[in-house]
Amino acid sequence: MEHEREHLLQTLWSHYADITPSAPRIHTWLQNRGESLKNDHIALRTFDLSPIALADLEPLILGLGYQMTGEYSFEVKKLRARSYSVPGSDAPRIFLSELRTAQMPESVQAVARDLAAQVDARGLDLLTSPMHWTPVTRETYEGLREVSEYAAWLSVFGLRANHFTVAVNALQSFGQTKPLAVLCDALQAQGVVLNTSGGVIKGSKADLLEQASTLADQTEVIFAGGERGLVPSCYIEFAWRHQDPNTDGLFDGFVTASADRIFESTDAR
Ligand code: NI
Repeated sequence: MEHEREHLLQTLWSHYADITPSAPRIHTWLQNRGESLKNDHIALRTFDLSPIALADLEPLILGLGYQMTGEYSFEVKKLRARSYSVPGSDAPRIFLSELRTAQMPESVQAVARDLAAQVDARGLDLLTSPMHWTPVTRETYEGLREVSEYAAWLSVFGLRANHFTVAVNALQSFGQTKPLAVLCDALQAQGVVLNTSGGVIKGSKADLLEQASTLADQTEVIFAGGERGLVPSCYIEFAWRHQDPNTDGLFDGFVTASADRIFESTDAR
């Protein structure tokens, strides 16, 4: 189980790093400061359609030793999500969201149905090979974008980790008082562009979780028909967790209002 989990996480990292050069660059920068890295969580996106709905993917995640730790709903973006942790382990948490397609206009539903119908992978193959459908046209991508940045992203990148997250609690070189703020200043000082939607730091000590993220890198995709275009790919997040007064450990869940802003890190600009 642990071996399969490791394999999945490494595969997700490599597909993510392929289109997110700033992520390995930031990891290297941290390692050069003497840090040893730990991932707080990874995030996956999907449509609420068989065979890739949250309900289809959840058993795969539970089969790797994960347990559900929370449920979240995003009314404006028409998303719902669940988070998972492996108790007593250093494995990154998983944040899995899905688009409620029935609440989308018919044009979006039709594309989502077409993409989901092309998926023939089953089991963990659903998560270890990112693309299960043929490229969409640029027109389709732009049409989705007008209604749902989330649906547009998913149509070109598939079931790929949308972000990995550096666990700020495991860092040593940014002080103990405000490590996330110090880290963000250091990143910005060397030209890294952070998501400022709702402020650089989302959440507060009272929320038990403080987060920040870069804006997504841009990567070239090939649309149906061979046309190429630059689109926002993935980003890297930083999470600082506080002691949860209800348990003995660090807060293990997520904060809906903060996640809502973090989703916007992949919006086209
Ligand atoms: Ni996240």
